[in-house]
Amino acid sequence: MKMLEDRIRKDGIVREGNVLKVDSFINHQMDIPLFREMAKEWKRLFDGKPINKVLTIEASGIGIAAVVASEFNVPVVFAKKSMSINLDYDNYETKIQSFTHKKIYNVIVSKKFLTPEDHVLIIDDFLANGCALLGLLELTEKAGATVEGIGIAVEKGFQQGGDLIRSKGIQLESLAIVESMDSATGEIVFRDQPQQ
Ligand code: G4P
Ligand code: NA
Ligand code: NA
Repeated sequence: MKMLEDRIRKDGIVREGNVLKVDSFINHQMDIPLFREMAKEWKRLFDGKPINKVLTIEASGIGIAAVVASEFNVPVVFAKKSMSINLDYDNYETKIQSFTHKKIYNVIVSKKFLTPEDHVLIIDDFLANGCALLGLLELTEKAGATVEGIGIAVEKGFQQGGDLIRSKGIQLESLAIVESMDSATGEIVFRDQPQQ
């Protein structure tokens, strides 16, 4: 999506260790008109799918997912992270390993809010190694829900998550895919995708 790529070029900051900071429009301050355009693009890309729920994970996926849910006119559920094991049979639970934060989280979603009737669109801000998405997929599987697709704002195409998800045959639509970035020059190269 050209609008998002242009914004990343303009306001994204490339940090050492292949980290892209997008705090001024996605991860800290949120540009809602931009999110609205992203939501419209996912609406177009997932046209015809019987999506009745948006699913994301706290924290930074929630803002985007809320705007997407508004565009699809459906509820949004966010999986919750907790550091403690929580023996609560009202929840589906899985573990997610964060490479960036070097932590393992328990991630839960209430059985009330994810059911076999649900056809979910999973939304998140970043896709790197894919650990967060694998956790969300596991929760949907435990719930017997159907995953209609995954929408990601920024995929880091040089990490393994995108290939992993696509190899499962899931429709994955990343609005910007970073092929490479250079913290010395700030240069960012995006993968060519069909542009609307
Ligand atoms: P993975 O889920 O794809 O495996 O990602 P990984 O463990 O590598 O990353 C952990 C967290 O860091 C995730 O947020 C992910 O969205 C975020 N992240 C990964 N690469 C980048 C990057 O280049 N820039 C930014 N800004 N974030 C990145 P999280 O643990 O879900 O935390 P939260 O911020 O959503 O609370
Ligand atoms: Na995230
Ligand atoms: Na994040």
